[in-house]
Amino acid sequence: KSLKPYNTFGIDVKAQVFCEINSLEDLRAVYQIEGHPKKFFISGGSNMLLTRDIDALVLHINLKGIEVVSEDDDEVVIKVMAGENWHAMVLWSLEQGYGGLENLSLIPGNTGTAPIQNIGAYGVELKDVFRSCEAFDIKAQAIRTFTKEECQFGYRDSYFKNEGKGEYVIISVCLKLTKKNHRLNTSYGSIEEELKNNAVILPTIKDVSEAVIAIRKRKLPDPKELGNSGSFFKNPVISASKFRTFMKHHPEAPHYKVSENDYKIPAGWLIEQCGFKGKRFGDAGVHKNQALVLVNYGSATGLEILNLATKIMKTVEQRFGIEIIPEVNIIK
Ligand code: EPU
Repeated sequence: KSLKPYNTFGIDVKAQVFCEINSLEDLRAVYQIEGHPKKFFISGGSNMLLTRDIDALVLHINLKGIEVVSEDDDEVVIKVMAGENWHAMVLWSLEQGYGGLENLSLIPGNTGTAPIQNIGAYGVELKDVFRSCEAFDIKAQAIRTFTKEECQFGYRDSYFKNEGKGEYVIISVCLKLTKKNHRLNTSYGSIEEELKNNAVILPTIKDVSEAVIAIRKRKLPDPKELGNSGSFFKNPVISASKFRTFMKHHPEAPHYKVSENDYKIPAGWLIEQCGFKGKRFGDAGVHKNQALVLVNYGSATGLEILNLATKIMKTVEQRFGIEIIPEVNIIK
């Protein structure tokens, strides 16, 4: 079976065997299969680059459902099953009048993968609304709850990308949202400008969501139209001393202070400076509006995308002495 519809990059690789996981019983059952075939999980497929056929039992996480688990006058905790599309869930939450997810509108992928890389955009990260998640512990064959602390969230990072890698399957996520006194975050980049242009003076959570959607649509390609996995690289963080030298040579570079000794430089800017923005090599390319996003014009292979990524990393390193590393999970 082709996995093309199951990864937002639209890479056409094959699964040896494919199976939908529609319930926890399905998940338990696949671990009872005789011979213990190798398993490979796929969910929204929005943060992976497949470079080869998957010689394993591919399991598509299709667990659905959203429920309110607790609420008071001010706040609500919702439990979202892993297979729920992230953006559809965000729109649902806004419809209910729940605040907290508006800045995270239009992020591709499913809810279950959101904690793995602590998805973030426009000044908000998943960890800001995250309460806990449930995961299937593959070794113990049991469900375990992870608190926010246990998830060890960092910038595009978590326990599930490090010590816990390959050991858990996230099955649901609990989010804590506001019912009133919403804490709007409009300070990032162009949100305020977008609101002003739309003549919004006292923004609601829906206004912020609409502003974010408009900005994202301008910069980021829709995976349904052009295969991509969002930002392909993480923004590099460099030390204060390296930053000072860098700024001497490139005073015009955008940058953010992360802490006393850490500065973040947008990888998109570095890549653009190296002349890659909008470039196309066969069917693999660099998006014309955002150099951090690699795109598949139709029939690029995973290896072609990976070769382009490697070339970009080398060029940035040679030109700026800064290492950029992929954010996307590369399946080699
Ligand atoms: N820039 C350029 N050229 C480019 C792209 C960006 O010069 O081609 C400059 C922009 O002018 C701006 C700065 O870089 O000064 C930052 O750009 P932008 O606001 O677009 O954000 P980003 O740092 O490139 C990050 C996230 C995005 C997220 C946006 C908004 C990472 C790796 N990426 O991108 O996340 O939507 O901020 O918060 O942190 C994703 O993870 O898939 C993703 C899309």
